[in-house]
Amino acid sequence: MVDHIHRSHFASQLNETLVGQNVSIGGWIEDARDIGKLAFLIIRDITGTVQAIVTGHDNLQLLKSTPRQSIVMISGFVQNSKAKGFPVELKVEVLNVLSRSTHPLPIDPTGRVESAIDKRLDSRALDLRNPKVAAIFSLRSEALQIIKESLHSKRFIEVNTPKIIGSASEGGANLFSFPYFKKKAYLAQSPQLYKEQLTLALDRVFEIGPYFRAENSHTVRHLTEFISVDIEAAFLDYEDIMDIIEEVIRDVALGLNERCSSILQLVTDSKKIVTSIHKSRIDRLTYEQCLEELAREGEKLEFGDDLSDASLRKLGEIHQGFYFIMDWPLKLKPFYIHEREDNSKLSKSFDLQYGYLEIVSGGRRQHDSSKIRARLIEQGLDPANFSEHLKAFDWGMPPHSGCGLGFDRLMMTLTNSQNIRDVVLYPRDTDRIIP
Ligand code: 4AD
Ligand code: MG
Repeated sequence: MVDHIHRSHFASQLNETLVGQNVSIGGWIEDARDIGKLAFLIIRDITGTVQAIVTGHDNLQLLKSTPRQSIVMISGFVQNSKAKGFPVELKVEVLNVLSRSTHPLPIDPTGRVESAIDKRLDSRALDLRNPKVAAIFSLRSEALQIIKESLHSKRFIEVNTPKIIGSASEGGANLFSFPYFKKKAYLAQSPQLYKEQLTLALDRVFEIGPYFRAENSHTVRHLTEFISVDIEAAFLDYEDIMDIIEEVIRDVALGLNERCSSILQLVTDSKKIVTSIHKSRIDRLTYEQCLEELAREGEKLEFGDDLSDASLRKLGEIHQGFYFIMDWPLKLKPFYIHEREDNSKLSKSFDLQYGYLEIVSGGRRQHDSSKIRARLIEQGLDPANFSEHLKAFDWGMPPHSGCGLGFDRLMMTLTNSQNIRDVVLYPRDTDRIIP
């Protein structure tokens, strides 16, 4: 039976050991060069390219009427090749055109003709045929896998909490709301309150999921929907969480280097960045040390001022790569963050930065509900709106700490991407909700 759907091999699997064997390859036509009695085809699949030699009147006629990027299944014999970069090639016996592309295509997926990011996003599925673009998403998938393995090895349990919620998790105004039968519902900004409650019994939890922020930000680092790796752990302090994050990031760098060496090469500077990460420790600065460093650079800030983009860019020049900023003023932090025992103006909190870019926010959590109530009021929030959450604190709440890591932003750093849209398949921002 002739089967036009199943391939026998992926492109990258063809090698000298298969010479003389009949194989079939499914993919798309990247290039076709007709030199009269025969044609050279370059067929690409997710793993790479194959050179194929097409002969015979019928096959050559069929090829002439088949545009590039069309999907084909070719079968024939593997033979040694004289072509540069191809130790073997396929001498085609059967050429099946399974799906024709319609030209002109909106973008050139070979990357020879470059397109602006907006045009590429409009045709994202086709854009992914560019191996440099596909590489980013292979690395993304592998990085997620490694993060899960790393957290599992540290006794974390993966959980899934609702994204449709009845009240704000973090407070603040950046919530999307929508009618939900006879009620009003919101899209979750973070799993903050759920993950804290879960430490009560499950001890260490993590969740990797989409979160939603109705922020009117037009930047290369904000989306309205982003993926966060959230972790929360009982009986750990914020410095322990910093240790864990440092280990997770190092595991990702090490793992990508080991498992995805050839894919890393496709993404400019990725190999260099990933290698530099797993060799070095991450500096830990306090907020007040940052103020001193900024003062030396001529930027005078008062205690309690937030660090602007410009300030963070300056700090990023002094501290290359990742660095932590810890012990922020308590008043700059959300209601659930714990104060430092030795100075209640300071909090047990941290951000992990990569240059100007914030990758992680985390800290020790307040587990005394009367203090949480007081802080909610201080921040103009109504404790009554948090009663569902606060009731868990009367059931015996362990001291706990955690953080949220912006996974898209981490992928920006690992792939040296300047725009978060480069590392997200179908980004959502203030302007874009399609495709
Ligand atoms: O700093 P954020 O808002 O912290 C929280 O959500 C806390 N609940 C975390 C915790 O456990 N204390 O968000 C966490 C991270 C940020 O550091 C950033 O990397 C990413 O999520 N992030 C965004 N990424 C893309 N687009 C946005 N609009 C983002 N907002 C936050
Ligand atoms: Mg933050």
